Amino acid sequence: MDRETGKKKRCTAILLAAGRGTRMGSRIQKQYLRIQDRPVLFYSLYTFEKSEVIDDVILVAGEGQTEYVRGEFVERYHFTKVTRIVEGGAERYHSVWEGLKAVQAEGGTQERYIFIHDSARPFLTEEIIRRAYSDVEVHHACVVGVPSKDTVKLVDEESFSRETPDRRFVWVIQTPQVFDAAIITGAYAKMMSRDVIQATDDAMAVENELHIPVHMTEGSYENIKITTPEDLDIAEVFVKRCFPEL
Ligand code: CTP
Ligand code: MG
Repeated sequence: MDRETGKKKRCTAILLAAGRGTRMGSRIQKQYLRIQDRPVLFYSLYTFEKSEVIDDVILVAGEGQTEYVRGEFVERYHFTKVTRIVEGGAERYHSVWEGLKAVQAEGGTQERYIFIHDSARPFLTEEIIRRAYSDVEVHHACVVGVPSKDTVKLVDEESFSRETPDRRFVWVIQTPQVFDAAIITGAYAKMMSRDVIQATDDAMAVENELHIPVHMTEGSYENIKITTPEDLDIAEVFVKRCFPEL
């Protein structure tokens, strides 16, 4: 709900599916690998489709894969919220930038929130989406994550431990990362104009380019990223729990 008007702001998901999945080492890209008969990419699309918060989805696919994704996902499963399918780029931030350019073409950045999500995280839930929506209304920039279960060490170049941050203040970051559309577009525009870009998540762009504080939103320990082969074994267990209706 918008605080002044009581109206819900438009929420657009940018769903990233343009990665190559190098660490998975599989022949087909990990977003197309199957968990219980359905491809990884299916699950987050399904959750956005059912969501009462998300209004539309911009899908970012790999080079030359937009028609494949349209046929195999959008048409096959009748996902009506996908308004655009665009090609991503070499790095994740290139793909996000392509998605943000499509946001401009899809009505601009006024009165709108952007949920940037990795399709490699199939166990996103409506509950997480709702928590992120409540937080972005207050803080304008928030990322989903969980407190680290493990102790984290900062090390030097020679792999000697330098510092042990207090675990209460260490969060492991997931997606979605959610922002006022104008904020994330402004941050990316500034970042993309630089010669050297270092950004492993979207919050970094907002923190470094605009110095806007980014709030943590509680995710879940099931909202894992499918990265290496053993993650697929865990995914088989989680999928039954997270999608009992399928
Ligand atoms: N992604 C993307 N475009 C890229 C790189 C990544 O859209 N150029 C997406 C991936 O499809 C994934 C998400 O960003 O859903 C998170 O990236 P990651 O887990 O690193 O996936 P990949 O880059 O595909 O895997 P790897 O790093 O092992 O190659
Ligand atoms: Mg990657």
